Amino acid sequence: MSKTSLAARCGLVITLMAAHPAFARSGTCVDSPQAVLTVCVDADARGPFYEVYRGARPVVVHSPLGLVIDGFGNAPATRVSNVRRATADQTWEQPWGEQRVIRDRHTELTVSLSGADTAATEPYDLTVRVFDDGFGFRYEFNRVAADRDVAILDELTEFSLADDFDAWWYPARERERDEYLYHRGPFFEINLAETPLTLQSPGLYLSIHEAALVDYASMNLRRTAERTLKADLMPWSDGVLVRKRGPFQSPWRTMLIGDTPMALADSRLELNLNEPSKIADTSWIHIGKYVGIWWEMHLGKSTWGGGPTHGANNANVKHYIDFAAKNGFGGVLVEGWNKGWDGDWIANGKYFNFVESYPDFDLALLAAYGKERGVRLIGHNETAGALENYERQLEPAMAQYEKNGVAVVKTGYVRPSGSIERTLPDGSIAHEWFAGQYRVRHELNVAEVAGKHHVSIVAHEPVKDTGLRRTWPNMLSREGARGQEFNAWGRPTNPPEHVTILPFTRLLAGPMDFTPGIFDITFGKTNISERVQSTLATQLAEYVIIYSPVHMAADLPENYENRPDAFQFIKDVPTDWETSQTLQGAIGDYVVVARQQRGGRDWYLGAITDENARKLDIPLDFLAPGKRYEAQIYRDAPDADYLDNPTALVIEKRTVTSKDRLAAALARGGGLAVRFRAL
Ligand code: NOJ
Ligand code: CA
Repeated sequence: MSKTSLAARCGLVITLMAAHPAFARSGTCVDSPQAVLTVCVDADARGPFYEVYRGARPVVVHSPLGLVIDGFGNAPATRVSNVRRATADQTWEQPWGEQRVIRDRHTELTVSLSGADTAATEPYDLTVRVFDDGFGFRYEFNRVAADRDVAILDELTEFSLADDFDAWWYPARERERDEYLYHRGPFFEINLAETPLTLQSPGLYLSIHEAALVDYASMNLRRTAERTLKADLMPWSDGVLVRKRGPFQSPWRTMLIGDTPMALADSRLELNLNEPSKIADTSWIHIGKYVGIWWEMHLGKSTWGGGPTHGANNANVKHYIDFAAKNGFGGVLVEGWNKGWDGDWIANGKYFNFVESYPDFDLALLAAYGKERGVRLIGHNETAGALENYERQLEPAMAQYEKNGVAVVKTGYVRPSGSIERTLPDGSIAHEWFAGQYRVRHELNVAEVAGKHHVSIVAHEPVKDTGLRRTWPNMLSREGARGQEFNAWGRPTNPPEHVTILPFTRLLAGPMDFTPGIFDITFGKTNISERVQSTLATQLAEYVIIYSPVHMAADLPENYENRPDAFQFIKDVPTDWETSQTLQGAIGDYVVVARQQRGGRDWYLGAITDENARKLDIPLDFLAPGKRYEAQIYRDAPDADYLDNPTALVIEKRTVTSKDRLAAALARGGGLAVRFRAL
């Protein structure tokens, strides 16, 4: 760098710092329980706004608040009044999850926002909940008459940051919904981004998202100034953002704030901002590992559609059931079992039938065959985004699955982002966004009808997760990012850094049905961008790195039978945890996660790296002090490399305690998976 440019850069830094003079808290403020964060709400002639501080450091500066509603007095609220405060410190238990007992410790501030003239300014409340690792706020229109129709035309919420950040993001409202690779780049490159949106600067990590997205439109973030993002809700086809009747509350607008990316990953704020479970008896909810008729279709070895290549035939399903039973898997997913797959199924989603099987698939017979062997079928409902067709059949379909012991259904919504068809009263067709209010309503409706029949849902091409599993614990997991399937398609496949980014971005929203565990890494491909870009150890590590209550062992049975040594880890690893800790990581470079089995004393550890080989030094101080463990280590062999030697794996055992450290050498694209068996 030349002297001039250095001077210019210093000059720039000085100007930026001067632009944020001090710490000028104004308005009504609320500190987090340990005074780590402070959120202040105020109003001036332009309307209400908020600011956020971390200690003395401003994080969010003067950022507007408010909604614009059709027919309401929308003059800016200029008064903050009726200040109410509360605190909470309670624990609650998840029926299943990444952590059994969750502490909800927060402070709360509710204010009324109004103007001098109530006809010109519709009064409403704003509630802010502040945790030590982030905050959330929501709009509460509690005084709206019960029969009054409300059409939200704009949301004014902004996030104006005090510093320059780099963003981990992908564009919202593009054709493939949430299935994009993340970009890392300066904040000012963002145009319209999906959430969770992760931001990093030296020593400060943020993630902007929302919690409890119920009967509302999904929020994207549009950059409107150098350091400012504005809420941008996915509209209905007529331009209205959200339709409500009577009193309503918005979802929570949330921000996680931490010194490290690990602090974001281990926050439970998202769950804490959702309502407690509406399902009192959760004993019918089944989680766990599954195999299925799936990867073989993506590899082109069999088809979803009927005929001689049909994958979901009785003999093949029995083969998978036998394999599941022999290896301790509770579920077998069967895709392509139902009529509607022939021809262009994406274009012809309205012909999917969720009750009738192809003639070579006998649901009752196969369900009984599985039952005798302790294995349940996992249903599959690909809708191709034809929501009306699916909703018409939901009730009889779920009743039939319940009758046959199907406890989990994987749904699918393969359709370009803005093209969900909705029939209008005059018979014409409107096209809706994949996560606008119409679809958001649909997803909850599916979960509720399924729940009545004791069926849980794993959604692909879903609305992004916002923690609803707390309230509806039969919403088990979702896709909502590029999963393993992209590794079969090769356009191109996921690069090694992808899974080192997910824990700090997509997974902040909730569990992901990524479908790890491909052992035949190359499946005959010679071009790296047409096959899995990882080592075998990485495939094992993903079961720990990626949290999901349901995890698939995605490869073909014969590929597992060829590697019983490595397969043992998949057989052992649980999907339900007493507690989880993200130990180390740098977004896009590497990540190390440890989890303790729920209902047991064993711990599991996963580590993965990007395209660079990496040496890690991992203190084992998460283990119970004074106890001995047999560490069953699955690591990259010294000559392993995702490019030319991906399946070279060393498995070794050694006795360790919490005082030990694990020195690990990860290959390029490599990983490490460890089971710590309590002795
Ligand atoms: C996309 C899903 O992500 C994948 O898992 C499924 O096999 C196909 N759609 C077909 O429904
Ligand atoms: Ca998908």
